[in-house]
Amino acid sequence: MEVVLCQDASDAACRAVDAVEALLREKPDAVLGLPTGSTPLLMYGELARRCAAGTLSLAKASTFNLDEYIGLPEGHPGSYAAYMKRNLIDKTDLRISHAFLPAGRAKDLEAASREYEDRIRTAGGIDLQILGIGLNGHIGFNEPGSSLKSRTRVKTLSSATLAANIKDFDGAEPPTMALTMGIATILEARRILLIATGASKADAVREMAEGPLSANCPASALQLHEKTAVLADPSAASLLKNKDYYQRSQALQARLKGA
Ligand code: GLP
Repeated sequence: MEVVLCQDASDAACRAVDAVEALLREKPDAVLGLPTGSTPLLMYGELARRCAAGTLSLAKASTFNLDEYIGLPEGHPGSYAAYMKRNLIDKTDLRISHAFLPAGRAKDLEAASREYEDRIRTAGGIDLQILGIGLNGHIGFNEPGSSLKSRTRVKTLSSATLAANIKDFDGAEPPTMALTMGIATILEARRILLIATGASKADAVREMAEGPLSANCPASALQLHEKTAVLADPSAASLLKNKDYYQRSQALQARLKGA
């Protein structure tokens, strides 16, 4: 796992968008895997800015979100569908018909999970998966204990996650279950970028990058992926033991690219 020490949260967001831009230049109909939460908001802002400036276009791309709450009415502002509409679809040229989320309102959630996996496969698989990380090390809604071989399915949210997500529900109770891509689904992406910002993520980042591979920290499964980079701001990176190494490696890699 490559750890990229970023100057701040905006630098992390810009580096993520640089990767999206480079991918779209090479493959305009690329398939992106996308996260929600507060961390990626800067990234969505930058995507919208570059789209308006004409340096990037999502017109031919497809997107697959990691997860969606179960049981929210259509258009509920706390739903991830509403989040994506607000932050990406309304602000870029991404076609709504090419923006997919797990069907959290489906009657048959097992069938909906299978269909989501099929849809990703039919689209050719995910070229670039962007992730955030939960305080407890979750990715998507794969809470601690999730099988490292899990696929899209229903997950019960942990109390820590419910407490963290209450902010999106105006103080009301957030939904307690969600449909989420599994860890194996995520690991099938050709490339993965995880953005981590803020001191509250420092423990999870250390566990993920330097702790043991363990279902107790679902993000540690990314250690099994050969093309994963973590974009961390100084606060999120503050507890990493091998920071010096990451710094040195980053400088040498940059020199190699510039050479
Ligand atoms: C939610 C999402 C995750 C996200 C996490 C962190 O639980 N399901 O995909 O990474 O929150 O969110 P935030 O960026 O708001 O800390």
